[in-house]
Amino acid sequence: MTQSSHAFVILAAGKGSRMLSDRPKVLHQVGSLPLLGHALRSTEPLNPAHLIVVAGHGAEAVEAATARLAPAARTVRQTEQLGTAHAVDQARDLLADFDGDVTVLYGDTPFIRTETLERMNAARQDGADVVILGFDTPDPGRYGRLMITDGDRLHRIVEFKDASPEERAVTLCNSGVVMAPAALLFDLIAQVGNANASEEYYLTDIVGLANDRGLTCRAVTCDPAETLGINTRAELAGAEAVFQAARRAELMAAGVTLTAPETVFLSADTRIDPDCVIEPNVVFGPGVTLAPNVTIRSFSHLEGATVASGAVVGPYARLRPGARLSEDTRVGNFVEVKNADLARGVKVNHLSYIGDAEIGPASNIGAGTITCNYDGFLKHKTSIGAEVFIGSNTMLVAPVSIGDGANTGSGSVITRDVPEGALAIARARQDNKPGLATRLRDMLRQKKAALAAAKPE
Ligand code: UD1
Ligand code: MG
Repeated sequence: MTQSSHAFVILAAGKGSRMLSDRPKVLHQVGSLPLLGHALRSTEPLNPAHLIVVAGHGAEAVEAATARLAPAARTVRQTEQLGTAHAVDQARDLLADFDGDVTVLYGDTPFIRTETLERMNAARQDGADVVILGFDTPDPGRYGRLMITDGDRLHRIVEFKDASPEERAVTLCNSGVVMAPAALLFDLIAQVGNANASEEYYLTDIVGLANDRGLTCRAVTCDPAETLGINTRAELAGAEAVFQAARRAELMAAGVTLTAPETVFLSADTRIDPDCVIEPNVVFGPGVTLAPNVTIRSFSHLEGATVASGAVVGPYARLRPGARLSEDTRVGNFVEVKNADLARGVKVNHLSYIGDAEIGPASNIGAGTITCNYDGFLKHKTSIGAEVFIGSNTMLVAPVSIGDGANTGSGSVITRDVPEGALAIARARQDNKPGLATRLRDMLRQKKAALAAAKPE
């Protein structure tokens, strides 16, 4: 499928009642990406000429998500859910002038592989007029059944509700994915009626109709795991587990060490280069990129962060969106970094909050440092130069900047800019009162003894 002669219609109008959710089913997430996003992504390598999402339940949310996930995609609305054929028919006008193939996908079926779509395309090139993706399973449940005759010709698809006991005994099931030339597909759909157990317009009826015209329909089969559809929260969790296992395996195969893979959670867009080491219990939210040789230590949570080679993050670190760590940086335990650039060799090793900041090369940020970036209304920036030493427990009240090679004294509240090379101390001067501690303790000891004596037995 190198030529861009393919259009995709992704059905996403269904309610997904069994999710018991206000959110449209296709917007529930696996690997921090909506199910619809997975379906859209599977089409990318095929360079689609048209990408159309059929929205219905929660259409506004689905339309907004589509615009965000795949700006080239268009949406159409199916205001009443009258069946899968009726859903595909909503794309008819948008594809009126298109003479390539149309592939129908489901928005709630996230794992169809590009290779599988390519095999379907090969069957089309091989002369099949309509190609259906099927799968064989010992537990065919309520799936539509594929009726094969004459070797490999697909003769008919029977929906479970309409199937006889003999037909229900067939274990070759319909995944829902259909590939056919646009004109033929819409022509066949126009002929589909709704005289069936569900009174719905079944897309699956196009197979019988095509056979009536003497056309050839074929089934291509795939692993049932690919066709996994999501209808319930339990199935969503199952899909998440399948997704995580696959991504972990992919990363390890590509040269990433996962010490305890089953405890590392990845997003669909997580990018980790070879020779990174990910210790147990690490979560990657969306938008994380790690260059080679990064170590993420246990119990860290990363999201929207970019980390360069040689950096060590954690244990117990939190990188939030816009955290950009250069080569050989250190972000240690109980440190949160948000929207901040840490230049090469910067160390923030303990108990700090660094937000809306930039820190120059080789600067050291002492334990307990906080960039006070928010005044309750607006966010402000902290700029720290190169080779700066920020003393422990410094409050940097932004907007503020610290010049190259400057120091701040521990416990300082820095509200004014610090010039290059200066030492800023902003705390009350220490006052020692000789002997006062001893006198104070004597007094308190006597007071406690007097109270104990006055207490009735
Ligand atoms: C469908 C197939 C069945 C197949 C099964 C695989 C038909 C008639 N049946 O059955 O052969 O084994 O999928 O999962 O096609 N949708 C719309 N608008 C509608 C109806 C459905 O957008 O009017 C969408 C749904 O949101 C869903 C998909 O199409 O994503 C499939 O619909 P669903 O109702 O789940 O079909 P099944 O009965 O499961
Ligand atoms: Mg279904």
